[in-house]
Amino acid sequence: MKVTKAQKIGQKVDPQSLGFGKVFSDHMYLQSFKEGSWQEGEIVPYQNLPLDPAAAVYHYAQCLFEGQKAYWGVDQKIRLFRPDFHSNRMEAGAARMCMPFPGQEQMHEALSELVLIDSDWIPRQKGCSLYLRPTLFASEPFLGVRPAKEYIYMIIASPVGAYYAEGFNPVRIWVEPHYSRSAPGGLGSVKAGANYAMSLMASDSAKKRGYSQVLWLDPLDKDRIEEVGTMNVFFRFKDHVATPALNGSILNGATRDCVLHLLKKWNIRSEERVVRVSEIKAAQKQGDLLEVFGTGTAAVISSVGTLGFEDQEMKIGDGSTGELSKKLFNAITSIQYGESEDSFGWTKILR
Ligand code: COI
Repeated sequence: MKVTKAQKIGQKVDPQSLGFGKVFSDHMYLQSFKEGSWQEGEIVPYQNLPLDPAAAVYHYAQCLFEGQKAYWGVDQKIRLFRPDFHSNRMEAGAARMCMPFPGQEQMHEALSELVLIDSDWIPRQKGCSLYLRPTLFASEPFLGVRPAKEYIYMIIASPVGAYYAEGFNPVRIWVEPHYSRSAPGGLGSVKAGANYAMSLMASDSAKKRGYSQVLWLDPLDKDRIEEVGTMNVFFRFKDHVATPALNGSILNGATRDCVLHLLKKWNIRSEERVVRVSEIKAAQKQGDLLEVFGTGTAAVISSVGTLGFEDQEMKIGDGSTGELSKKLFNAITSIQYGESEDSFGWTKILR
């Protein structure tokens, strides 16, 4: 792989003020698809892309991405978390979006090279990491509506801290009665940029009401729960834990998968099924609803303290971060930072 080193090295940011996705490392990976085949990929200095104004992605949103992380371990080793899960998902997503995919091997090699060349950008503090954003989009200058014939595959890297300003404190969530994130037969199970565009109006109006994000419901059956904000959602009842089953509209999250594996290992009954608003309202009345939390790469576990409905506000448990949320967060992050044994084989040590 060709590597062109950056002449200028960017200023590192104090980990306390990193936030999420504001700062980028010195290099990026770039590869283009033209005339039916992938060109050689290369690592280049982080830079603007020369794109024709007619590039299909600008007009028809043929774009897909991944979000994954590299960690600086307590043992000074550098780990990628769930690289296979992400490359599998990206390959499946590319097929759904009618895009070519450069291949899983290529993706792993590119990620490893980029992380190693920019290893100085991996924050050393626990709670921080290097967020990696593989992105694939249509670059062909053509305004007809059909799958493009030219693409760019790139990976950028951003040192990050907490995703939510609340950190690990519980968030307030608005149960969205009107807007939807995805439709049956749509792109909900794919990490398509378009899903996030679809979500903006709802999350903006939830913020105006004093909530951090929304609880997404099925667009037709408003009693069925799908996701929370940009994350998968879990409900801890007295005798089991439930999460909406993957139905084509829900993203198959890497952290969701980790949680299901950990619950199984700990002999906690978990169910992937339809979860209903009416059910959680009834469970909360009876004192059976103990915790609600979101799972995602960016925030890992995000505890929900309050659910807001048009006619009521519902406090979950005592409104603080639940015991299972904390246990899951600790179990996952201690594997990520090399503090506990990776018995599931989720990490790949790069160096
Ligand atoms: C995640 O939780 O990892 C996400 O997907 C959030 C990202 C879109 C910023």
